Amino acid sequence: MDVISAIHSRSSYRGKYDVAPVSREHLRLIVEAGIAAPSGCNKQSSSFIAIDEPSLLKKIHQLLDPSVIDCPPAMICVISQRLIAYRNVSFSVQDYSAAIENMLLTIVALGYQSCWIEGHITDSDAIGRKIADLLGVPDDFSLVCLLPVGRALEPVKRIEKKTFEQRAWFNGFMHKENMNCND
Ligand SMILES: Cc1cc2nc3c(=O)[nH]c(=O)nc-3n(C[C@H](O)[C@H](O)[C@H](O)COP(=O)(O)O)c2cc1C
Repeated sequence: MDVISAIHSRSSYRGKYDVAPVSREHLRLIVEAGIAAPSGCNKQSSSFIAIDEPSLLKKIHQLLDPSVIDCPPAMICVISQRLIAYRNVSFSVQDYSAAIENMLLTIVALGYQSCWIEGHITDSDAIGRKIADLLGVPDDFSLVCLLPVGRALEPVKRIEKKTFEQRAWFNGFMHKENMNCND
């Protein structure tokens, strides 16, 4: 699948997963896509833990409350360190976001589904910290996102997006321009 098709096929999947395992080869390809992402001042502030041990997946899934997703056959945990790029500026949020999108697109390209789970684990319940402790992640790293990985057993629903005309313009904010290049 080419990258543009992957972008337009991706959507957040919260349905049931097939229990079939995800190969280590595929998990590695997914994480390598995260590692390949750009990062501010090349700080490479995000790290990843791929989980494919069924008992560990179950423990992590039990910590998710509310359990927004079905227990998947694999999961990528995204870990971030607030590294300073320059002065007191850290691009760690942008760094891990770029890595996550690369991984989501790779997950789709390989025929799996996923969902960016961040809000549910980084609010006041601090579920991310509990999962981080379970995985032995040191205190100066935050577990910021979970990406389930597995084959969908249910139809993948596409959410409606605003149109190009509602969100984008050429040559100026809200600029109305004839789109025909020959005019
Ligand atoms: C920063 C961020 C945090 C998110 N956190 C969650 C989450 O905790 N739980 C969840 O079910 N979806 C989460 N999502 C997925 C969004 O709900 C989803 O991307 C959005 O509704 C658009 O749908 P789409 O991904 O199908 O295009 C998150 C997405 C982003 C970018």
